[in-house]
Amino acid sequence: MVFDYIDGGADDEVTLRRNAARFRDYELLWDVLADVSAIDTSANVLGQAVSAPIIIAPTASSRLFNPRAGERAVARAAHAHGLLYSASTLASTSIEEIARETPGPKLFQIYVWKDRGLVREILQRAKAAGFAGIVLTVDTPVAGNRERDPRNRFSIPPKVSLHTAAQALARPGYLFDLTTTPSIRAENFAHLAGGVGSIVDFINTQFDRSVTWRDAAWMREQWDGAFAIKGVGRPSDAAQCIDIGADAVWVSNHGGRQLDTAPATIDLLTPIADAVAGRGQIILDGGVRRGSDIAKALALGASAVAIGRPYLWGLAASGELGVRRALEILTSELERTMALLGRTRIDALGPDIIANAQDAEMRSRHIER
Ligand SMILES: Cc1cc2nc3c(=O)[nH]c(=O)nc-3n(C[C@H](O)[C@H](O)[C@H](O)COP(=O)(O)O)c2cc1C
Repeated sequence: MVFDYIDGGADDEVTLRRNAARFRDYELLWDVLADVSAIDTSANVLGQAVSAPIIIAPTASSRLFNPRAGERAVARAAHAHGLLYSASTLASTSIEEIARETPGPKLFQIYVWKDRGLVREILQRAKAAGFAGIVLTVDTPVAGNRERDPRNRFSIPPKVSLHTAAQALARPGYLFDLTTTPSIRAENFAHLAGGVGSIVDFINTQFDRSVTWRDAAWMREQWDGAFAIKGVGRPSDAAQCIDIGADAVWVSNHGGRQLDTAPATIDLLTPIADAVAGRGQIILDGGVRRGSDIAKALALGASAVAIGRPYLWGLAASGELGVRRALEILTSELERTMALLGRTRIDALGPDIIANAQDAEMRSRHIER
């Protein structure tokens, strides 16, 4: 059930599959006889110097995937690799505890909660804990329909019942960790009256379906650091993000977990890059599984990519070491791809490395600019 919670998407999982599949349709064209003895993947993302333009995407409740390691392990692994970490607002470790694990650059993801006082308080805590930026997720006015979870009788925290007993007993190591560590809950809000036992209950009471651009602009005014808006797909919305003062547009369909049959994010990139026109940075996530996927996103206008499931698999398999291994695989693949392309710097990855850029452009032309 935990595997399915990570792996799954909304409805028929069309977008989930499409995100990864569409990267393969973009063809790479290489230079020959270029000196590639020194590859430099360093970049600047949201004002932070990073060793590579790869961001740890915010994912709720990391202790669910490894009850002992959780967010702390992911934050430490990101710091060890010199990468930008983002904590989910629904993390199972508090902002302050995460900050104690890593002096490295970090972002905090939020939603516009119904209780605006709570929003202000969480922003103040993020600032005090040294977070460099805020990521406002806007593709979640309601939770997506992820059918694997009810089928598995999955809940947060996971409960051992008649239906889940066989699965739990088949994973004694996980069960031991789950039952010998503190209960998994939304730690950032645990201090509220009565605590927050269930993330789903908390989401239902605090998610505000009436949120509009005015609220996003209000949020921007509340935070004086870097500000990104995550979950954007339409070019005109991307332009509006910049107009209300966002530093970055985060192109995402929530890894295919929200609106199913949405386009693959890589197909949305060219029109969004046109709309943003250099006025801010663009971050892309969804289906990034190879170093070559990263090169393609950068070539088509992204300043960085973010990854969700790839590091979660590492975390679930072996905690901090697993996350480090996942990051090592991706960064070394990016370096190898750059060497094979004959490009030694991130800013040298332009649209000319995509052989069929024009076909790709035609495919994305139907999307309103
Ligand atoms: C298990 C899981 C939990 C997630 N939780 C959040 C979240 O709390 N907030 C958020 O903005 N995005 C969340 N996301 C979406 C990710 O930030 C990101 O957009 C997505 O995972 C990228 O796609 P990928 O998994 O194909 O790399 C979650 C994704 C997964 C897989």
